[in-house]
Amino acid sequence: MAPLLDRRLIVVTGKGGVGKTTVAAALGLLAARRGHRTVVCEVAEQERLAALFGVAGVGHLERELAPGLHAVSVQPERAKEEWLRHQLKSSTLAGVLGGSRLFQYLTAAAPGLSELVTIGKVWDLAQLDRRTGGTVFDLAIVDAPSTGHGLAMLRAPGTYASVARVGPVSRQAGIIDSFLRDPSSTAVLVVALAEEMPVSETIDFERRLADELGVAVERVVVNGVYPRRFTGEEAERLRSLDGRGSPAARPALRAALAEHERARGQRAQLGRLRRHVQAPVSTLPYLFDPEIGRQQVERLANELERRL
Ligand SMILES: Nc1ncnc2c1ncn2[C@@H]1O[C@H](COP(=O)(O)OP(=O)(O)O)[C@@H](O)[C@H]1O
Ligand SMILES: [Mg+2]
Repeated sequence: MAPLLDRRLIVVTGKGGVGKTTVAAALGLLAARRGHRTVVCEVAEQERLAALFGVAGVGHLERELAPGLHAVSVQPERAKEEWLRHQLKSSTLAGVLGGSRLFQYLTAAAPGLSELVTIGKVWDLAQLDRRTGGTVFDLAIVDAPSTGHGLAMLRAPGTYASVARVGPVSRQAGIIDSFLRDPSSTAVLVVALAEEMPVSETIDFERRLADELGVAVERVVVNGVYPRRFTGEEAERLRSLDGRGSPAARPALRAALAEHERARGQRAQLGRLRRHVQAPVSTLPYLFDPEIGRQQVERLANELERRL
């Protein structure tokens, strides 16, 4: 199997708020450092990626965030409209029904169309001969919607290919579907936290991705892992100090013990994850900095470099 960064497309998914955008950015930075011309593509997001690099809004045109690292934002609704308008231009139906009525009809009648055109745009970014004529990239990383929606997006081309059966839409959807399922071109990476819900969702996602698409998760990245500061024995001794010592030290003691408990809970969830997923699991540390910006993303990229 080709190393992760040698694929053409990496799909980063996971439950909302787990650090998908941050991990996608760190991965992008790592790829760019290794000389891969890389684009990170946000889907339906508030352009968090640009903010992370201190750059104002990215928009739907590719922007360079760091040397060799580009960003682009795809809005599914907008992509769908563009696509429909393009299809309608050459359609005689448009003349019969009138543009806007047909437009409404098609939008309602085609579930999953916005997913299809969104993944279509992402697919285009990953091609060496881009039909839209934009910059050519070695690697596209998509900061995909959360697990449920991410799965719907990955499934859309296959569904369209089989429903449409013939014609240009079916052919195009079939090409995208094959690309997504081919492990030499596409890898799916799930970001999670070492907490009950994200761990359960990750286990479930891996199973569904295999059942519904025949695709294996390449790797799970558990983000925000707390350091283990105390041994069990040390924690016990700290606990026995509670109520004693100087009043000033008490809040610090309590905070240290709370963090210790949280780290313990995380280890348990990490263990559960490792027992239930097939994919290798890597961890990224929780960063205690007041803000996560370019410098912190650089640090996470260093960690990924060691752990991938
Ligand atoms: N390793 C980390 N340590 C500390 N904070 C983090 C870490 N990774 C992400 N964050 C913070 O967690 C929040 C959610 O991260 P984000 O990447 O936007 O998640 P998502 O894209 O999954 O919604 C952000 O405020 C981000 O700065
Ligand atoms: Mg995000």
